Amino acid sequence: MLEQQGALRTAGSGALVLGIETSCDETAAAVVRDGRDILSNVIASQVDLHRHYGGVVPEIASRKHIELIMPVIDLALKEAGIGPEEVDAIAVTYGPGLVGALLVGLSAAKAMALALGCSLIGINHIEGHIYANFLEHRQVEPPLVCLTVSGGHTDLLYIDEYGHYDILGRTRDDAAGEAFDKIARVLGLNYPGGPEIARLAVDGDPEAIDFPRGLMDADTYDFSFSGLKTAAINYIHTIKQRGADLPVADIAASLQAAIVDVLTSKTMTAAQAYGVKTVLLSGGVAANDSLRRHLRELAGMHGIKVYYPTRVLCTDNAAMIACAGYYRYRRGERSPWDLNAVPNLRLGEV
Ligand code: KG4
Ligand code: ZN
Repeated sequence: MLEQQGALRTAGSGALVLGIETSCDETAAAVVRDGRDILSNVIASQVDLHRHYGGVVPEIASRKHIELIMPVIDLALKEAGIGPEEVDAIAVTYGPGLVGALLVGLSAAKAMALALGCSLIGINHIEGHIYANFLEHRQVEPPLVCLTVSGGHTDLLYIDEYGHYDILGRTRDDAAGEAFDKIARVLGLNYPGGPEIARLAVDGDPEAIDFPRGLMDADTYDFSFSGLKTAAINYIHTIKQRGADLPVADIAASLQAAIVDVLTSKTMTAAQAYGVKTVLLSGGVAANDSLRRHLRELAGMHGIKVYYPTRVLCTDNAAMIACAGYYRYRRGERSPWDLNAVPNLRLGEV
């Protein structure tokens, strides 16, 4: 994927990277200077459009991205107070994600980079989520263990150097965010379900229902949330059939506890096995307060520090893409003009 496209226009300092992200249902553009100063971070969420359907409708997402992409980019440049000719590189998500959605951002990025004569850098969305941490926590350095938890992914990674990912485990079925979203839908809650469950869980008893913790004690770093999903849906249906009131807060708290238990336990096992002193959380589910708190508490007992991005940088945004792009730009990496969208792109793959 990456090749040289001429010399660095700006060697090191003051490099302005325009990030573009359209992998799912947020149309986002951001300008980041030197991989850390966020000059603008525009996110046009389509959540209200998709909420009606209980999840993201790919065709609707692509169409909306087409409408929004140029206004969002224009606004990002305007808010950053720069003209397009000042951009040194354009970093764009090229996978994983919805193919039609990815192609909108990618086409805009290629057209702009060609017209402006600046560098094009394709970024893996998951790498972007990880780099959201480097935007904010400048002291963080590998080696570290990173848990990436989003609507589409649950990956446990060992990172021994920047840009090098050892995938220790991943979900065998549903992602953690997907489990939140699907169970929330059966509960009649709004999409996306993660924040809704987290909000309701505050008033519930996390021990009220003993939901399964898939693979928690198994000798693997892999995850599985489909058993939890089935158990929760069966539980909800049984109560509904009886005509009784759903204990929504208790279900939310118990469900969240089951997910958080598995995520924290595997992450801590990996952190100790690899002897790291730093753990990162990234992805939309990293916005979950209970996950943040439990992991911090557990890690603190072992002298391990936990970092996570501020909430707005946990969920999809383009500042994280610009940040990841900056480090590749600095290393002289460039993407070819025929870069294509790769819906199933894996970390470390080019
Ligand atoms: O990273 P992201 O914005 O998009 C993907 O790359 O998938 O993650 C979205 C996911 C959704 O499943 C959403 O329910 C979940 O992150 N999420 C949360 C919270 N905020 C977002 N899950 C649990 N608690 C939250 N506070
Ligand atoms: Zn994401």
